[in-house]
Amino acid sequence: MSIPTPTRDDHFSFGMWTINWPAQDQFGSATRAMMDPVYIVHKLAEIGAWGITFHDDDLVPFGTSDAERDKIIAGFKKALADTGIVCEMVTTNTFSHPLFKDGAFTSNDRRVRRFGLRKVLRNVDLAAELGATTFVMWGGREGAEYDTSKDYNAALDRYAEGLDTVAGYIKSQGYKLRIGLEPKPNEPRGDILLPTVGHAIAFIDRLDNGDIVGLNPEVGHEQMACLNYTVGIAQALWCGKLFHIDLNGQKSIKYDQDLVFGHGDLMSAFGTVDLLENGFPNGGPTYTGARHFDYKPSRTEDEEGVWESAKANMAMYLLLKERAKAFRADSETQDLLKSSGVYGLAEPTLAPGESLESFIADRSTFEDVDPEELADRGYGFVRLNQIATEYLLGAR
Ligand code: GCO
Ligand code: MN
Ligand code: MN
Repeated sequence: MSIPTPTRDDHFSFGMWTINWPAQDQFGSATRAMMDPVYIVHKLAEIGAWGITFHDDDLVPFGTSDAERDKIIAGFKKALADTGIVCEMVTTNTFSHPLFKDGAFTSNDRRVRRFGLRKVLRNVDLAAELGATTFVMWGGREGAEYDTSKDYNAALDRYAEGLDTVAGYIKSQGYKLRIGLEPKPNEPRGDILLPTVGHAIAFIDRLDNGDIVGLNPEVGHEQMACLNYTVGIAQALWCGKLFHIDLNGQKSIKYDQDLVFGHGDLMSAFGTVDLLENGFPNGGPTYTGARHFDYKPSRTEDEEGVWESAKANMAMYLLLKERAKAFRADSETQDLLKSSGVYGLAEPTLAPGESLESFIADRSTFEDVDPEELADRGYGFVRLNQIATEYLLGAR
């Protein structure tokens, strides 16, 4: 098997903050110099990426004057035009500056909430100007370390108020933007509000402008909560809410590792790519958005290592895509999908037109059933998963 070369048609995109992470961490200072955003755009085009995303402050440092801001944005736009790189998503930094230490939309200080909302609205204008289609909102500081410090009911009210205001603004301006909420259980806050995909889906349901609010789930964030990412994005798809994705790698429950996609739980990454590329076995909603990477090149890497790690994300995705396609195309896989009932699950449990009355009266469904006979069958799931694993390992 050769390593596939990415092309624009693969729709790979990278957060500017990923490539440009200078690798400072809790225990040590930066190990790399930061690069010019224009240079990053050109390099991404060179390695076969299609898109770029950024936080406002990644492009225009916090506190930059308006005149300087205009100059930076003009230079960035020119780089996009020169390379054909698409700015598909924009997000707002409401977590780095010390003023956001207790959150933005849910800070206990109303002045901070108003400042945060203005920062986000201004960034919505920039996102629309650059032609982005997704506006990600990751509330990394929306949370608490101590239950005594936050009225969670009021915090959720303020979170909803903020989101409805932003979504309402997008609609009133006629922008073609949709908001993607990004759940995370913790880090940097002890507990973050909207900790998982499921929490966020339930929250969106309560919004007035929830029709343009969906999800941007990140692999590692679900795994930090000991959850299965594929199950999370499957439910988001089922709800019509999978607006965007953050692909990366994580090894079990620990700090947010942001490894290269597939460098964490590889089997889970196979399941994710199988779903994204091949869809549900019985059809249904599919994901057509960007294949977006939100990882961090390890602190040990120099600039060459940064680009190698960026390429590794794309290679991992394409390899898994090729493996998942081969797995699905195998006739033994298809036979097992049939015999194990995977295809059968699409058949409604009640017959078309069957009334509840006749269902309850049907003795063959319950009274006359031999439970032992139903219990006796095997499903053959292990064989099915073994075939998937053999494909993953290149043994088939
Ligand atoms: C994290 C998050 C962030 C967000 C990004 C978008 O690693 O905790 O993934 O990187 O995705 O800030 O707002
Ligand atoms: Mn992360
Ligand atoms: Mn992310």
